Amino acid sequence: MSSAHRIDTTRVGIVGAGPAGLMLSHLLSKSGIDNIVVDNRDRDAIARTHRAGILEHGSVKLLSDSGVNGRVLSEGHRHDGIDLRFGGESHRIDFLDLVGESVWLYPQNEVFIDLADARERDGGDVRFGATDTVVHDHTTRTPKIRFTESDGSPAEIRCEILVGADGSQSICRRSIPAGERSDDFIEYPFAWFGILAQAPPSAPELIYTNSEHGFALISQRSETVQRMYFQCDPAADASAWTADEIWAELQRRVDGPDGLRLQRGPIFEQMVLPFRSYVCEPMRYGNMFLAGDAGHTVPPTGAKGLNLALADVRILFEAIDSFHRTGSRALLDSYSDTALRRVWRAQSFSYWMTNILHSRQDASPFERKRALGELATVANSRYAQQHLAESYTGWPHA
Ligand code: DHB
Repeated sequence: MSSAHRIDTTRVGIVGAGPAGLMLSHLLSKSGIDNIVVDNRDRDAIARTHRAGILEHGSVKLLSDSGVNGRVLSEGHRHDGIDLRFGGESHRIDFLDLVGESVWLYPQNEVFIDLADARERDGGDVRFGATDTVVHDHTTRTPKIRFTESDGSPAEIRCEILVGADGSQSICRRSIPAGERSDDFIEYPFAWFGILAQAPPSAPELIYTNSEHGFALISQRSETVQRMYFQCDPAADASAWTADEIWAELQRRVDGPDGLRLQRGPIFEQMVLPFRSYVCEPMRYGNMFLAGDAGHTVPPTGAKGLNLALADVRILFEAIDSFHRTGSRALLDSYSDTALRRVWRAQSFSYWMTNILHSRQDASPFERKRALGELATVANSRYAQQHLAESYTGWPHA
């Protein structure tokens, strides 16, 4: 690096301008805590990245109460339940009746757009399009982010607290020496094939279905755009599938005596999504703290990823705010343990939802029938349904 590089000093340096990094930046700025965010991607690329679409009630409250803007409430759709389908029959899980809560259908890229707009509106310092980002000096009082600005000039950010909110491929996490962290994970023998299609909704609520041909999820985006997924081989080539093949595969997974028909229309995006459960412990190294996918990945079944990231941010914000106001590091010191308690609950729920709804190709008839027995238990027990409803809509925040 040349000696002419620009140096900025701030209290909190955040790597990653996804929903986690930007939400943290927004909350810190509102509390008068100076911060800078750096991301390798450009703003339009993040806005175009399609991810999950379900927000827990606590995530909606965080977005609306913290003054991001009201779009989540005006343009999101409240869902009071889901349809759990197996053996070709639908079973409604009525969240509102079971636990008195709902979720909102509001896609992650819209959350990003709202947060990026709010940072711009409020004068936030967000450096998109950075390259060669590296983090240094985590265990000193002045950790640093070094990178090349989008205009090609070298830059350095000196901070008191460094936050790695840079996603599942996190450079921050990978900068933690191997002996200082544990990586626990499981792989699954399947992935999701996801599509976006121009079509009207096929059902009023989301359908999670377990069929003899494997899992499918019939989700939505709007009155005219739908999001759907089906379990596929992780090695599948998304572009190799024709629209007719995709629709046939989705349809046969929802087929049943009730004659449910999917509303078809032009598919304008198709991709294979990775599937993994992963946790890094602790979610801290020196004065660097990990948040969101940088610290953990959940499989998408149950839509916990973004919600968990926002839950981390909330805990981390309170810890940094307390440090800023009182000088006490107590909440920073307990951040990892506090966050990990929720992370492991979400890991457990996502794993359970994945296992009851997917089928493994090598599953024996016994395993297949046992899984249906478990689904029947959920469909016939108010207690079991409450477990699902409480986990899906989101546990209260500590
Ligand atoms: C969506 C994704 C999920 O993983 C899920 O559980 C529910 C909805 C979605 O993209 O709409």
